[in-house]
Amino acid sequence: MSRKVRVGIIGCGAIAEHLHGPDYVCSPDAELVAVCDAVKSKAVALADRLAPDAQVFSDYKEMLKKADVEAVSVCLPNHLHASVSIAVLKAGCNVLVEKPMAASLAEAKKMLDAAEKADRLLLVNQSQRLFPAHVKAKEVMDSGIMGKVLHITAMFGHAGPEYWSPTGKWFFKKKEARFGAMADLGVHKADLLRYLTGKEVAEVGAFSERLEKTRSTVEDNFVSALKFTDGTVGTLAASWTVKGAEANYTVFHCTNGTLQICLFPDRPLVAYLVNPECQITFELPPPPTNTAGGWGLDVGGAFCRAVKGEEKPFCSGYEGMKSLEVILAAEKAALTGRTVKIKH
Ligand SMILES: NC(=O)c1ccc[n+]([C@@H]2O[C@H](COP(=O)([O-])OP(=O)(O)OC[C@H]3O[C@@H](n4cnc5c(N)ncnc54)[C@H](O)[C@@H]3O)[C@@H](O)[C@H]2O)c1
Repeated sequence: MSRKVRVGIIGCGAIAEHLHGPDYVCSPDAELVAVCDAVKSKAVALADRLAPDAQVFSDYKEMLKKADVEAVSVCLPNHLHASVSIAVLKAGCNVLVEKPMAASLAEAKKMLDAAEKADRLLLVNQSQRLFPAHVKAKEVMDSGIMGKVLHITAMFGHAGPEYWSPTGKWFFKKKEARFGAMADLGVHKADLLRYLTGKEVAEVGAFSERLEKTRSTVEDNFVSALKFTDGTVGTLAASWTVKGAEANYTVFHCTNGTLQICLFPDRPLVAYLVNPECQITFELPPPPTNTAGGWGLDVGGAFCRAVKGEEKPFCSGYEGMKSLEVILAAEKAALTGRTVKIKH
């Protein structure tokens, strides 16, 4: 049996509870040996639920000194991603940092430099790349059956972070979150569009508004118009005021037809082709086993296999930075009322 990578988690809030922790304890490639949260009771609760033998810390620097870990998930509020990831890399560990990977391109570049200097991996948890419908959609897009992508619609919206992380007040504070719905949710779709099409965004126009979360200092709604380097156009929208049913879909209108991804919950991946006219409802790969109450995306396992050199990183630091660049351009476009070009 292949060896298990010794893993630690810094930040034991919602995403550690729902994704990182369960993924690690269910993966044959990982062993969760340390958990850390500034609120120690949260680290204790995560260890109690998932890994009772794990060491528990309230100071990540102490964890890096005392725990025998070689890979670390950084699951902290956005403003801490860069500094803590760099400290983890300097301590000789590989990093899986949450999205958005940093608060600025300068920070993202420093993270990439630190990874190169330490000769360690830096992965960004653009977890939508591993959703079963997106894994299959990548195969479909790469197969060429859809032809050339002409027009894209992508939207991610839910009722807001207060329904996701009841203690995550930082999501609403510009100093700690840096962005609102635009980066919290929009960065997922910016990354997914780049990943599924292999195209880069060349120019962005955008609007952002705070419509309901009036006590927040970040936007709760955002819509952008994208032009890709080959002229493909599209819209990317994100919202924290979507009620009743979450919106989390992507549609590609292509020369040979339309690919709908997660537009309808009962049919997550459907291609409508024109020549010959037909409809294909794709079967999705079964989700990896997850018995620990998580999403079952196997993000943690994929990270550990990349650390062992058995698999390509599912989203490298560079990829995370290119997706962040789209969101930063969209923010600038919304603030200035002008379109913003991205150089490649
Ligand atoms: N990939 C995804 O699908 C996805 C989904 C949700 C959230 N996220 C991202 O995950 C990150 C965390 O989000 P969350 O929802 O878990 O937030 P959260 O507020 O629920 O958890 C953050 C945790 O970090 C702890 N913390 C804060 N400062 C600390 C420090 N200095 N040292 C140690 N612990 C500290 C807090 O006590 C808290 O428990 C964010 O960047 C968010 O954007 C990603």
